[in-house]
Amino acid sequence: MSILNQDQSDYWNGEVGQRWAAQHRALDAVFAPFTEALFARAALAPGDRVLDIGCGAGETTLIAARTVGGGGQVTGADLSEPLLATARARAAQEAPGTAPVAWLRADAQTHDFGSSFTHVLSRFGVMFFEDSAAAFANLRRALAPGGRLSFVCWRGMEENAWVMVPRERVLPLLPQVEPPRPGAPGPFRFADAATLLPLLEAAEFRAISCEAIDRAMVLGDTPQVAADFVATRGPIARLLHEQDPALKETALNVITAGFAERFGNGPVALGAACWLVTAQA
Ligand SMILES: C[S@@+](CC[C@H](N)C(=O)[O-])C[C@H]1O[C@@H](n2cnc3c(N)ncnc32)[C@H](O)[C@@H]1O
Repeated sequence: MSILNQDQSDYWNGEVGQRWAAQHRALDAVFAPFTEALFARAALAPGDRVLDIGCGAGETTLIAARTVGGGGQVTGADLSEPLLATARARAAQEAPGTAPVAWLRADAQTHDFGSSFTHVLSRFGVMFFEDSAAAFANLRRALAPGGRLSFVCWRGMEENAWVMVPRERVLPLLPQVEPPRPGAPGPFRFADAATLLPLLEAAEFRAISCEAIDRAMVLGDTPQVAADFVATRGPIARLLHEQDPALKETALNVITAGFAERFGNGPVALGAACWLVTAQA
């Protein structure tokens, strides 16, 4: 396999990928409002051939497989072997009648996916490319004429309270945090739609739509569960990734205390802001 972004491959195959794989149910629950929005817009139909990019532990791939049914075909592609292993195990539990699923360890930027998909979709899997222009051109090639692309990605960090609220608690504990270099792979890579739309146009997508959607995300049923979620996955986990265990523990405690001040002992729900993007080949 040819891998263009080795850093991302290392990141998603290491401790982070294993953690995401082990806790995939929690992630799927937290992302549910965006999953719903993505599938409502994608409007998959029986018989469709779907490619799920950055499929992770496979929830969206398996929803696609159930939706397109036995007459369809679905491929889940990801860089991360631990996540793909979880996805394969989940697929084995599926009821008969869903589309056959091929799981591919592949780099979306370079893999030859053929050109027969009616749909490429992704839930938060398109922001980590080293070369986004190459990736979107490659995804465009994977689509049959008239095929459609649908994905969700984060808007700006400042618009995402689920990140900002715990981040404000954690920052004072950390040495100077460098802002990411512009265009670097990362969750907020496409915060500014002006960086995303030209990439899609250059890849010769047409009828491009980029809609801001806002949802409340329930991070956990209690402050402890929610703090564990944000401290071990996503942007806060990235901030803490290379810190020592004692600091990680302190960070978990201050996030828990912050959530408890705001939500008592109940569920922690904070605002989340995404782009819902669709385009046609
Ligand atoms: C934020 S996770 C989202 C996973 C999954 N879609 C979900 O919603 O649970 C991003 C995923 O993109 C994958 N990824 C990152 N760069 C990739 C690339 N160049 N090609 C394929 N997958 C990639 C990662 O391995 C990871 O599983």
